[in-house]
Amino acid sequence: MNKAISVGQDIFWVGTNDLETHLFESLWSLPRGVAYNAYVILGEKTAAIDTVKSSQFDEYLEKVRTALSGRQLDYLVVNHMEPDHSGVITQLREAYPDVKIIGNAKTLPLLKGYYGIDSGVVQVADGETLDIGGHVLSFHAIPMVHWPESMVTYDAATKTLFSNDAFGGYGIHEGGLFDDEKSRVRWESEMLRYYATIVARFSASVQAALKKLGGLAIEKIYPSHGTLFRSDIAQVIELYDRWSKQETESGAVVVFGSMYGHTRQMAEEVTRGLSEGGVKTVCLHDASRSNLSYILSDAWRYRGLVILSCTYNMMLFPTVAAFCEKFQNSMPKKRSLGIAGSYSWSSGALPALRKFADEIKLDRVGPEVEVLTAPNAQNLEQCHLLGKNMAKAVSN
Ligand SMILES: Cc1cc2nc3c(=O)[nH]c(=O)nc-3n(C[C@H](O)[C@H](O)[C@H](O)COP(=O)(O)O)c2cc1C
Ligand SMILES: [Fe+2]
Ligand SMILES: [Fe+2]
Repeated sequence: MNKAISVGQDIFWVGTNDLETHLFESLWSLPRGVAYNAYVILGEKTAAIDTVKSSQFDEYLEKVRTALSGRQLDYLVVNHMEPDHSGVITQLREAYPDVKIIGNAKTLPLLKGYYGIDSGVVQVADGETLDIGGHVLSFHAIPMVHWPESMVTYDAATKTLFSNDAFGGYGIHEGGLFDDEKSRVRWESEMLRYYATIVARFSASVQAALKKLGGLAIEKIYPSHGTLFRSDIAQVIELYDRWSKQETESGAVVVFGSMYGHTRQMAEEVTRGLSEGGVKTVCLHDASRSNLSYILSDAWRYRGLVILSCTYNMMLFPTVAAFCEKFQNSMPKKRSLGIAGSYSWSSGALPALRKFADEIKLDRVGPEVEVLTAPNAQNLEQCHLLGKNMAKAVSN
């Protein structure tokens, strides 16, 4: 991935693979890295679409230069100001001082705030077009997918949608850039994990964006992270539609926090009940071991969720609390929730989970189980029953 790669008529991918960042947004683990996709379009004028994270500048500039092959850069379209895409605007402008930066009314204060840039900027309205000769680009606001200024750029000549974070996924490019050059299980799981961690909270905005963009004839979707789509656009749009409508699959996630294994035993008994109840996909997560991104990803995908926690200094176990907080922030709907807690001298975890359950307003599945010290046979039976009841709730 060391060269600019042609990805359509006059269009080059000039993005980079980032294998250095351990945690995206300092939160989400990247065992397979992350790619920042950026593009250059050559018309009578030239345009770059988005840039990359600052650590990737040298490689990016080299590719931009190759793509331009001696020409000047006339425009830089800034679809989104999060620094994973805007990080090298200043340096790019040093290399191409006459470049005009295109953004919308909400882009400009961020551009000024982050980089002190307020000259050489062209403000575009929602739906406005820019004819670069051979390609007419249009700009469409998709507010809150992912930030207020987020927009997409559409090239009518090639029917390509440069969708920025929308349709993005974690994972570097391993040779191929396109959906038909990669294994679907690999890109889909990383796309869902990206959705669950970055986009899920804004699912209503995704629905609005899908409706708004539905009028465009789209043959290719080129996001700013992960796989480029050209072979089955309808399927990819359907994935986004499903995830943002919060349609879930039959299956259940069991998340637990446990220091000495007693709460883990309870969790395992819940999984046993789920399995005996006929649930084939059961994801058991130790909140202290799985990176939160994987738990969130499974929790977004499957209909059932059971959370179990030991009590830690009167409260919920910290890693379980972190999961609950982030999951609640994603505003989940249309799912079933079961809860259980343990303590040794003063109950704390279950009351905290009850409060969480009251706030999050998902369908409740019982029984609630509370264990004093180590679970006895009766406690384990209750956990088993919770699993079985959850199985009924998620299989219809
Ligand atoms: C550092 C620490 C703090 C704890 N705080 C409380 C507490 O405030 N109230 C309580 O009833 N139990 C408390 N416990 C006991 C645990 O909630 C729990 O009963 C015990 O760790 C067994 O569960 P586990 O094997 O799943 O870790 C604490 C345990 C530890 C190690
Ligand atoms: Fe973003
Ligand atoms: Fe991004």
